[in-house]
Amino acid sequence: MNIPFSPPYIDDDVLFEVEDSLKSGWITTGPKTKALEVEISKISGVDHTLCVNSATSGLMLVLKWFGIGPGDEVIVPSYTYCATALAVHHLGAIPIMVDVKPDFTIDPDKILAVISDKTKAIIPVDIAGWPADYDTINKIICSAEVVKLFHPNCAQQQQLGRILILSDAAHSIGAFYKGKPTGCLCDITVFSLHAVKNITTAEGGAIAINLPKPFIGFDVYAQMRLMCLNGQTKDAYTKTKVGGWRYDIILPGFKMNMPDVCAAIGLAQIRKYKSLLLPERKRVAKLYQVEFSKYTWAQLPLLMNGDTESAYHIFALRINGINETQRDAIIDEIALHQVAVNVHFIPMPMLTLFKDMGYTMENHLVAYDNYSREISLPIYPQLTTIQIKYIVDAVVVSYNKVMGV
Ligand SMILES: Cc1ncc(COP(=O)(O)O)c(C=O)c1O
Repeated sequence: MNIPFSPPYIDDDVLFEVEDSLKSGWITTGPKTKALEVEISKISGVDHTLCVNSATSGLMLVLKWFGIGPGDEVIVPSYTYCATALAVHHLGAIPIMVDVKPDFTIDPDKILAVISDKTKAIIPVDIAGWPADYDTINKIICSAEVVKLFHPNCAQQQQLGRILILSDAAHSIGAFYKGKPTGCLCDITVFSLHAVKNITTAEGGAIAINLPKPFIGFDVYAQMRLMCLNGQTKDAYTKTKVGGWRYDIILPGFKMNMPDVCAAIGLAQIRKYKSLLLPERKRVAKLYQVEFSKYTWAQLPLLMNGDTESAYHIFALRINGINETQRDAIIDEIALHQVAVNVHFIPMPMLTLFKDMGYTMENHLVAYDNYSREISLPIYPQLTTIQIKYIVDAVVVSYNKVMGV
């Protein structure tokens, strides 16, 4: 049996929406992108969402909108995909890396120590679909001693009056934290709609806007939309209307808009996300939990705790009592069974780029422990019970072989 890691979910509804876009005569940003924004807003509990061409773009756009640049610092967890830190780096600011907790999310106890008068934003990451501890992060960022350190240097920073909390929710669309959906847990949330994500537009991202007063959600949406279209006052769709050709460029924007033909895929998927796609992911996760709970060496990921619930994006199995070399050997064995697995993630200070910048693993012991024992198993709606049991068997047999059990 050959089991891929994360094939996209393409059914007749997806094919219909894509064909509809192709035949409509309009394939770049237009009505389908707008409709997807409305659906994402509904799922996230916000009034305004802007779709862009990736989560990386979304993070960069938000940081740019908040006036972040050279001389600024942005706090990120060390355990995440490189895009979280690269978005900061591309704007000329410095990512300050903080260790994580055993649940893979940024450790709030380690945040205060790295906040300085240069800190302009913090980017918690909802690894594997499990939300970071937003209540504690909000409390730290809004505390009087931290607010006092904040030195605004543009209108947006002046208006917020404190560090921006920008959630990297690349993995967590549809998750809940203490009963509230991801999207409305902090100031701004960025989802990824990349090919392997729970909802995909092939490549794509979405920015859910939840800023406090006196920000006006629609105004922020309009500013960001302008910034994702070269700073052009009229989008291409509006310009095609008879007589509507004249436009102006009023700021040096990026080109990050989402095409309708891509939005069409996500639109078909999101309509059945709550009723089918997310429950199906949960079904797979639950079966893994039942099967692996028979083995004391299997450390299961946190998926539900009261009214906090994962989006079941990655099934991050950890194996007790092994080191990195043994983990790698187990993965090699699993591959012999034609099962594709992964590791999420190599902590950033271990990657050449960041090593060369001077980052080290010295203060990232939990990140290293999580990484060295982690194997991400396939999780997606199309997996059958037979396939899931085959994957479990492949992991068990591989563990036994490597550990000589
Ligand atoms: C945690 C995290 N943040 C950001 C990204 C970037 O997402 P995108 O590929 O949509 O830019 C990813 C991609 O996998 C991710 O895993």
